[in-house]
Amino acid sequence: MTDTIQITVLMDNQVHRQGLVAEHGLALHVARGSHSILFDAGQTDLVLHNARRLGLALNRLDAIVLSHGHYDHSGALSELCKQANNARIFLHPKALCPRFSAKTDGPLRSIGLSPASIEAIETARDRVVFTPQPVAIEEGIRVTGTIPRVTPSEDPGGRFFLDPEGRQPDLVEDDQALFFDTPDGVVVLLGCAHAGAVNTLLHIEQLTAGRPLVAILGGLHLLHASGNRLESTLQALQARNPRLVVALHCTGWQAMMRLQQAFPERFAVGSVGSRFAL
Ligand SMILES: [Fe+2]
Ligand SMILES: [Fe+2]
Repeated sequence: MTDTIQITVLMDNQVHRQGLVAEHGLALHVARGSHSILFDAGQTDLVLHNARRLGLALNRLDAIVLSHGHYDHSGALSELCKQANNARIFLHPKALCPRFSAKTDGPLRSIGLSPASIEAIETARDRVVFTPQPVAIEEGIRVTGTIPRVTPSEDPGGRFFLDPEGRQPDLVEDDQALFFDTPDGVVVLLGCAHAGAVNTLLHIEQLTAGRPLVAILGGLHLLHASGNRLESTLQALQARNPRLVVALHCTGWQAMMRLQQAFPERFAVGSVGSRFAL
């Protein structure tokens, strides 16, 4: 498959263009020819506002993919299911779990899919595809399904729990990435990388028989990463020598600065409205 794929950031934590809005969340529009996929759905319906401003018709989406079941990646799902009424919806079955998080010593709060998002998925069940395993969304574009956790330094990146009392840790097992083939190698889109960016790359290398990494874009979730994790992530990325690294959403400023040093000329901080052709 040789058609160029165009990726547009529809939602991110940052915006630098007038008329567009930002929120803590992520949504990436992936277009190839007349086909389009939305990878994640932001925190609110503001995703739809940005899409209108950027001239992207979300009612024509062929697929909506959730990287995982957190509120900041799924907020526009209910409205999108109505508007994109032919789109198939890809998510890991564990994305539907209730889940909770707390800042250090703070109270637990619900961070899972909203009741409206869960209802939308139930209503659209005929076009829902669960992805515990890797699944092809269309030719050359796949979602990873469950990502094995094999690296010693990567943890889910926060105080996440499956119960409101905070007794059962949540490993965010539903976390998955989107990846697609280009003539030169593989492009990887990360939602929040709760599975760990390196675990994700190792899994995709298995699924693609070791094809080289051309580009990686998305939330690297290095916000609270230990120095050890940050450095081993940088080393793993440098060893793969991608020609483009785009940090979004939950990557964290310190990690962005280190990525800038590690990949001069090849690193970008994305924001709402950023576009990349691969
Ligand atoms: Fe998340
Ligand atoms: Fe997130």
